[in-house]
Amino acid sequence: MNKIFLNLGLQPLANEYRKRPINLSMKRGQLYNLKVCFNTKTKLVSISKRIPSEKMFNSKYPYRSSMSKTMQSSFKKLSNKIKKKFNPDLLMEIGSNDGALIKNFIKSKVIGVEPCKNLAKITKNKGYITYDKYWDFKLASKIKKKFKSVDMIYSANTLTHINDLKNVFTSINHLLSNNGVLIIEDPSLLECIKKNSYDQFYNEHIYLFSAIAVKNLLNRFKLEIFDLENLPTHGGSLRYFIKRKSNNKFKISNRVNIQINIEKIHGLNKLITYKKFSINVLKSKKKLLQILNKIKKDKKKIIGYGATAKAVTVLNYCNINRNLISNFTDTTPEKINNYMPGKDIKILKYNKNILQSYHYAFLGAWNFKKEIINKEKKFIKNGLKFITHIPFPKFID
Ligand code: TMP
Repeated sequence: MNKIFLNLGLQPLANEYRKRPINLSMKRGQLYNLKVCFNTKTKLVSISKRIPSEKMFNSKYPYRSSMSKTMQSSFKKLSNKIKKKFNPDLLMEIGSNDGALIKNFIKSKVIGVEPCKNLAKITKNKGYITYDKYWDFKLASKIKKKFKSVDMIYSANTLTHINDLKNVFTSINHLLSNNGVLIIEDPSLLECIKKNSYDQFYNEHIYLFSAIAVKNLLNRFKLEIFDLENLPTHGGSLRYFIKRKSNNKFKISNRVNIQINIEKIHGLNKLITYKKFSINVLKSKKKLLQILNKIKKDKKKIIGYGATAKAVTVLNYCNINRNLISNFTDTTPEKINNYMPGKDIKILKYNKNILQSYHYAFLGAWNFKKEIINKEKKFIKNGLKFITHIPFPKFID
């Protein structure tokens, strides 16, 4: 039974950047009501409105995994671990983006699946086998015909973006070898609740997984988690190592039950936890607006740092316009000189002196806090102050 616990109001599609700020309309499908629910039976948290994949993941998709050093090094580390521990003959990545992970493997041992043609082109041009198609049973059958089976399937920040999870896992089951391993990683619901990071919710993030919900889900497909890792990426993620129940090659690590117990202690299996979370989200909005309004009153300028999809949720939920945050800055070519979706705030190309003209920087890419603060030390020394809304709106010391 799905119970709505959070209403983040009217939102634009998070990655739909525009050359001009226009009034968006719900009628034209440019706005949708972002509500979040908890399934009391499966314990799965999801958003209530589903936007068709083709509207979100197409040849204009602007998100590139390789844009951050943090993600690059996370993928590099994982690749080394995969080679050492599992040494797969053939690895397939679902959602290979611009190749940040697959570039660490020999071309003959890796397959990319990436429906955004602009991104798939990047890895194709470098000589990697890339299917520019959505992950589904038809594609799994096509790959199976050619390669028979795949002994490792990896997917980061992708499966939570796909509405039909039954199709996702049936297709994985079809292609994965009997002793094969599936690794998935996605933002952790526990971290979201702990950090009050309501901006993890936007149209692309259809689901926010907990280990409890993943365990329940996998059970339906005769799959099970045999190990887990907590990662700092994307504001706190969980990496799940999954096998067939019939595969006895891997022992189930204690870490699995430990994580599930911690999640239960934090009440992730209970609706009341989510109701409390929604009260904290409202408090966060009020506090952030209070901080921004005070800065405006003092006639000081704020820039948003990192034009993230998460920041789109914050801006639209809190109704933050150009009068509060003058501009954003970002390194992604596809975002530069466009406007923050739903808002009149322009995204400027990042350069190393850009912060010079501002007194404050709102950390849109709070998940890269360390990397960014380190990069901008010089400005902080000269008086620039970073503002973050995670876990509660404040200035960063
Ligand atoms: P994400 O939070 O959805 O991963 O997006 C991060 C965004 O932040 C992406 O558009 C790149 C941008 N970014 C910068 O502009 N400068 C930086 O130093 C970092 C780390 C990220």
